[in-house]
Amino acid sequence: MTTVDSDHTDQEAFSSSVVIEQAAAAPESLLASPDQLSQAEITQEIIDYHAAADAREAAGERVAMTLHDFPPYRSSILRHPTKNPKLVDPETIELWSPAFGQRDVAAIEADLTLQHTGEPQGERITVQGRLLDSWGRPLANQLIELWQANAAGRYIHQRDQHPAPLDPNFTGAGRIVTNDDGEYKFTTIKPGAYPWKNHVNAWRPAHIHFSVFGTSFTQRIVTQMYFPGDPLFPLDPIYNTIRRQADRDRLIGQYDHDLTVPEFSMGYRWDIVVDGPDATWFEPEEGEH
Ligand SMILES: [Fe+2]
Repeated sequence: MTTVDSDHTDQEAFSSSVVIEQAAAAPESLLASPDQLSQAEITQEIIDYHAAADAREAAGERVAMTLHDFPPYRSSILRHPTKNPKLVDPETIELWSPAFGQRDVAAIEADLTLQHTGEPQGERITVQGRLLDSWGRPLANQLIELWQANAAGRYIHQRDQHPAPLDPNFTGAGRIVTNDDGEYKFTTIKPGAYPWKNHVNAWRPAHIHFSVFGTSFTQRIVTQMYFPGDPLFPLDPIYNTIRRQADRDRLIGQYDHDLTVPEFSMGYRWDIVVDGPDATWFEPEEGEH
């Protein structure tokens, strides 16, 4: 069973600032500033902070499984609350929060390859799984939203201007409502890795962002699905804010040949567990990368 969590959203994925011609080298304005650390220095920080957390835990301290302030992830300090949560009246917010039902989400929204007149570039994939609670019970009629970069690692977003091509046939957003067995299934394109300027030569592993809406905004949770065997895993400060490998593994979709459609798409299975010891790691509400 795959589960997920993470403390981070991905907004800095959208962080560059210059329009470039396709296949051009990155302009200097897109490169990390000279005072930023190298990947080797960041990787060593990741190792050191994990070791320090393990040592504190071994000494009897209760250490969170996800490190909210994680210096290798430079903006993590800005990505979680620093004050106590403010209580809201659930009756009021429930009254005004959006409502949706099966009829509000069209079936075609689960196929990101059909949203334009032509086929998007890239490796077509199917991502299928179940939304489960900690007892393994399916969560039916739940809105799952997904967003991602295209095959070249480019988002359609004004803050993502790194020199990779946009695809006129790919927007990168989809929705589905889980069926009675808690199942969802998206058809999309495997996203590419992309640079994000956390440090010199910083690249995010390929990932798809997922949101599970619940029944109101107060329940919404956000996470990322990765792909097996990505060589960027040990280098990525976001992925490594999660301390235990077993928890990080729950963020990785598993290749499933039974889900691969002959002559059409590669299949990945990824279950999302929203609570309990097998819970997928989820992010706080702020940004995204
Ligand atoms: Fe992202």
